Amino acid sequence: MAIACSEKCIFDWVIGKLRHSFVSLTIHYLRKSIPMSRPTVLITGGSKRIGKATAIAFASRGCNIALHYNHSRQSAERVQEEISHNFSVTCTIHQGELNNYQPATEKLISECLSQHGRLDYLINNASIFYPTPMREAKPAQLDSFLKVNCLAAKHLAELAWPSLQKAQGAIVNLIDIYADAGLAEHTLYTASKACLKSLTQELALVMAPWIRVNGVSPGAILWPEQQSHVGEEQLKILASTSLKKLGTAEAIAETVVFLAMRAHYITGSVINVDGGRRDFI
Ligand SMILES: NC(=O)c1ccc[n+]([C@@H]2O[C@H](COP(=O)([O-])OP(=O)(O)OC[C@H]3O[C@@H](n4cnc5c(N)ncnc54)[C@H](OP(=O)(O)O)[C@@H]3O)[C@@H](O)[C@H]2O)c1
Repeated sequence: MAIACSEKCIFDWVIGKLRHSFVSLTIHYLRKSIPMSRPTVLITGGSKRIGKATAIAFASRGCNIALHYNHSRQSAERVQEEISHNFSVTCTIHQGELNNYQPATEKLISECLSQHGRLDYLINNASIFYPTPMREAKPAQLDSFLKVNCLAAKHLAELAWPSLQKAQGAIVNLIDIYADAGLAEHTLYTASKACLKSLTQELALVMAPWIRVNGVSPGAILWPEQQSHVGEEQLKILASTSLKKLGTAEAIAETVVFLAMRAHYITGSVINVDGGRRDFI
């Protein structure tokens, strides 16, 4: 009798264990299949700095991420790992040289849709930035600034239109407070950002009422990567910023998330996130 009882106990214990494994496996399977139904955001130039902070901010809101990079594959893989480790979302990475924006953007949208099944938000963040003093600026450089900083965003918007419309989604373009003020020695960069600002307003008109299109214009957020120390020029910039400090990539990312996910009655707007710097330039 005692033996029969212990056999029954073992039997119950095994059944309990099997049931528990079955439930865990089902939850695991469901978790893996849920990402298809989560909103998906495509972020260009997402491997570092503001793009990386933006990817993490969207992932923390439960969005799947399609992260574009050009040269920084290892950094993109690190962001992918960080997101997969910290959030129950899927992060895929996609290479593309936006100087060849037509094939690159077509590949990007096609990979994003085949791997995620949907696209809800498009964040045009990738950008080139280097000085081009007026007299030295070359037509080939203008071509490159326009392609990477503006035309790629236009082409992505067009290709993403059907998916964004279906999702009633949004586009956010990363512009710059200098887009309408000009920045000494950076003629081509500011011209390309002015173009992107104008495109933002134009797209907001033509994509309404289905898709909202807005922009964020950062002030001094992160110094260029190649600039290792804060020199006199940087101190001058901080002195002429109302809040007297550098901004953060996270402050930009939060504004991007707000415009994409929560600003349901805002379109065609550009928000300066610049600590009040715009008033001094
Ligand atoms: N940082 C600031 O203080 C500041 C101020 C004003 C405006 N903004 C704007 O905010 C956005 C983010 O700023 P950030 O400083 O974080 O940007 P960033 O580091 O200068 O550039 C972001 C990414 O753009 C990608 N990129 C550059 N050239 C490309 C090309 N030819 N094809 C494809 N991708 C290319 C790079 O990807 P890979 O590394 O993979 O090659 C890079 O990581 C930009 O649009 C910038 O203009 C920033």
